Amino acid sequence: QTLKARSLEALAEYIKDGRAQQIVVMTGAGISTSAGIPDFRSPKTGLYANLARLNLPHAEAVFDISYFRENPEPFYTLAQELYPGKFRPTITHSFINLLYKKGLLLKLFTQNIDCLEREAGVPDDKIIEAHGSFAKQSCIDCKKPYPEERMRDAISKKWVPRCLDLSCNGLVKPEIVFFGEQLPEAFFENRTLPAQADLAIVMGSSLSVHPFASLPQFCEEGAPRLLINREQVGDLGSRPDDVLLLEDCDSGVRKLAEACGWLEELEALWAE
Ligand code: OAD
Repeated sequence: QTLKARSLEALAEYIKDGRAQQIVVMTGAGISTSAGIPDFRSPKTGLYANLARLNLPHAEAVFDISYFRENPEPFYTLAQELYPGKFRPTITHSFINLLYKKGLLLKLFTQNIDCLEREAGVPDDKIIEAHGSFAKQSCIDCKKPYPEERMRDAISKKWVPRCLDLSCNGLVKPEIVFFGEQLPEAFFENRTLPAQADLAIVMGSSLSVHPFASLPQFCEEGAPRLLINREQVGDLGSRPDDVLLLEDCDSGVRKLAEACGWLEELEALWAE
């Protein structure tokens, strides 16, 4: 066992001792709910529980590429609500930035498409957007890029954009990864990186979508894994050095920061 105990205090000691220098962070929608963006699977408040108005065959169809080909409207109805620009990063996002500023962040793997990690200050080269993002858009057939201004316009007016190459006329969509699509190259190139981590932090994900969900399993035995989430997920908790904080991400990162003596710095960074 690497930690003296499976506690936040023992983990903070490990960090303060300088034994965590290569931290891998893995995040999901739960780190953005306090910014006002719903997650997917929480009962009642999650996106999938609130899609009745779209008349979908099943909730996940709204992000399914075969369904989108036949019926792109439901996605564009939803896209307006999810489009980045109107949300502010949470203190959890700032905590990831704090790790970066301290030179401790090896990589952030995020499933989120809200770009809030970037907005909080984490640089591009530290982020693997495993499920893509709204940052780019293209034709799903010929892959021709589509201008951002036009996409913004389409999303705000809820019309479905089509490829600017008229001979193609394919459907255009933001480069977020739909069910049935490949994850970005960068994900596969970095997939085994957690094996180099001396600490992994998993936050705000149900770990129910593969291949992302298997990332924590690449961590070496002996590298502590911290889960900050409302519920226990994946195999977190199954190893002697797993530490579980089953609570809100924002309060969990505040506790961790406090235990490390970083709380004031974190609050100041978030307030910037
Ligand atoms: P989920 O909605 O599946 O899971 C969110 C997790 O965060 C749940 O375990 C919640 O209990 C927890 N949670 C919510 N709010 C929280 C808070 N404030 N503090 C702590 N925990 C909180 O979201 P993801 O795991 O991100 O993919 O979903 C994975 C993928 O499924 C998404 O990227 C998306 C979706 O379909 C695609 O669309 C391809």
